[in-house]
Amino acid sequence: MALGAGLEIYEHHGESMSFRDPARPAPEFKKVPEHIAIVMDGNGRWANQRGLSRIEGHKAGEQALLEVVSGALEIGVKAVSAFAFSTENWKRDPEEVKFLMGFNRDVLRRRREQLIDWNVKVVWSGSEKKLWKSVINELKLSEQMTAKLDAMTLNMCVNYGGRGELVQASKAIAQRVMAGELNPEKITERTLQAEMYQPSLPDVDLFIRSSGEQRISNFLPWQSSYAEMVFSPTLWPDFTRETLWQTVAEFQSRDRRFGSAKDSPAQG
Ligand code: IPE
Ligand code: IPE
Ligand code: MG
Repeated sequence: MALGAGLEIYEHHGESMSFRDPARPAPEFKKVPEHIAIVMDGNGRWANQRGLSRIEGHKAGEQALLEVVSGALEIGVKAVSAFAFSTENWKRDPEEVKFLMGFNRDVLRRRREQLIDWNVKVVWSGSEKKLWKSVINELKLSEQMTAKLDAMTLNMCVNYGGRGELVQASKAIAQRVMAGELNPEKITERTLQAEMYQPSLPDVDLFIRSSGEQRISNFLPWQSSYAEMVFSPTLWPDFTRETLWQTVAEFQSRDRRFGSAKDSPAQG
């Protein structure tokens, strides 16, 4: 069913996921961020607090991602970048890494139809290095199948690292210089932007991290240089569309100056 068609319920393992649920109306926002980046953090703590293993936390995080995508769609966000696996996450226990690889592949497969129904275009940001072939294949298939959809872009950041992205961009630029195609004097911010994994995405307006941690952890440093940061105490599996809307309300209250300034001395 097409976007905007009203209440749509999706069943998944007995869970339901609704889009535009009349019982959960979105607030009116005057300023909606065009691009939201989310560090989906706190799955392990959520599970351990319940006496469960970290893996159960990751499983519970799937619903939160779909919640946030639908909540973002509803208020007119154009792009969401979701940090699903970092290039530093290979340091984790091999069992957890193995689970996360299979899980990312399976989520993409199992949620594809739902995202297509919502008119969401899926793109991938990340490195192929060490990444399971089956995950790469699933990411590429999602990209192909949703290439023409345009309600929103979901940028799945899998095996993503911001410094690594800048390194691969530098390599590509150096090669163009070596080949005599590019004069180093002509390198601008646009030249670098064009070598990012997803060059057509706008800069990040709102950068959210769940779970109370207040750090970037190598997520979209180039794209987020003027993003508004919102650190939510909510652990990722508990994150809902309402939690997202609260962060958007916070974003709306911020004064974004981008280096400019306005003189307005208080009267009296
Ligand atoms: C985020 O949750 C998910 C991934 C990094 C894949 P964590 O697994 O980092 O959960 P915490 O931070 O240990 O609670
Ligand atoms: C960032 O979270 C990566 C993802 C959410 C995928 P981490 O939990 O890996 O980050 P640190 O180690 O706490 O900085
Ligand atoms: Mg974490």
